[in-house]
Amino acid sequence: MVKLITKTQQLKEERASEIGDVGFVPTMGNLHAGHIYLLEEALKVNDVVYFSIFVNPKQFGPNEDFDKYPRTIENDIALIGECEKKYPRKKVVLFSPEDVQEIFPQNSDTQISVQTLSTLIEGALRPGHFDGVATVVYRLFDLVKPKIAYFGLKDYQQYLVIRQMVKDLNIPLEIIGMPIIRDESGLALSSRNQYLTTEQKKNALILSQTLKKIKSVIDNKKSNIDQAKKEIEIILKDNNWNYIELRDAETLSEDISSSRKLTLLAVYQLGTTRLLDNLQMEIE
Ligand code: PAF
Repeated sequence: MVKLITKTQQLKEERASEIGDVGFVPTMGNLHAGHIYLLEEALKVNDVVYFSIFVNPKQFGPNEDFDKYPRTIENDIALIGECEKKYPRKKVVLFSPEDVQEIFPQNSDTQISVQTLSTLIEGALRPGHFDGVATVVYRLFDLVKPKIAYFGLKDYQQYLVIRQMVKDLNIPLEIIGMPIIRDESGLALSSRNQYLTTEQKKNALILSQTLKKIKSVIDNKKSNIDQAKKEIEIILKDNNWNYIELRDAETLSEDISSSRKLTLLAVYQLGTTRLLDNLQMEIE
């Protein structure tokens, strides 16, 4: 049975009693196969997995979907329980704080900011978003003290921000970025996909298909990058694209003249729903 903890003090006590390796999967809940994939990977290599569900107010802008973000704790517990059953020698501890103050006590006034990475691309469109992410993840790392923490690479910029924070603050843990899980149509799984109507779901295919097409134009060759950039310019004439950015995969720098690893990051907007996706590639 999944051990559910809702209070920080209880979490600290539980954590202090662990003797084996602790893995950690932080989430905002409304779990799908992508989250369960992270949990399974964590269960394979750790003795205990701490799994958090917390819809973090600090990472939502004033006009974003904090209030309507799907909260489905009963179903989430059932999914975690199913997964835990497959690993009878392992334990899952679910931390789902009952109150925001369990994470951010009333007078807390500190923010973590990974300055450069947080203000590029997605960060430029959502000011403060990555500071909110870094601040909550730092707090959760401090409580859980995991050996390894798992993040989905669908939020690739988030993964880079967290990796940089861990390096800069010398936090003793390993960050593992896990491949994107897609549905049969190619759409990257996301809790926000459920905001889409049937019609919008069909239109959403353009996102993964366009990224694949641009990747195939580049075909791992530096000499094709200019052509790919021209095609991106034409594609961006469709206003539903918030951006398509071809960047250095480590720094997100626009200057990719000597980059070996590239990332193609995009957001396609359908109604008020912003769909994120990315592809990684290597240059020969
Ligand atoms: O990726 C998410 O679900 C969230 O941004 C995270 C990492 C759990 C922080 O709230």
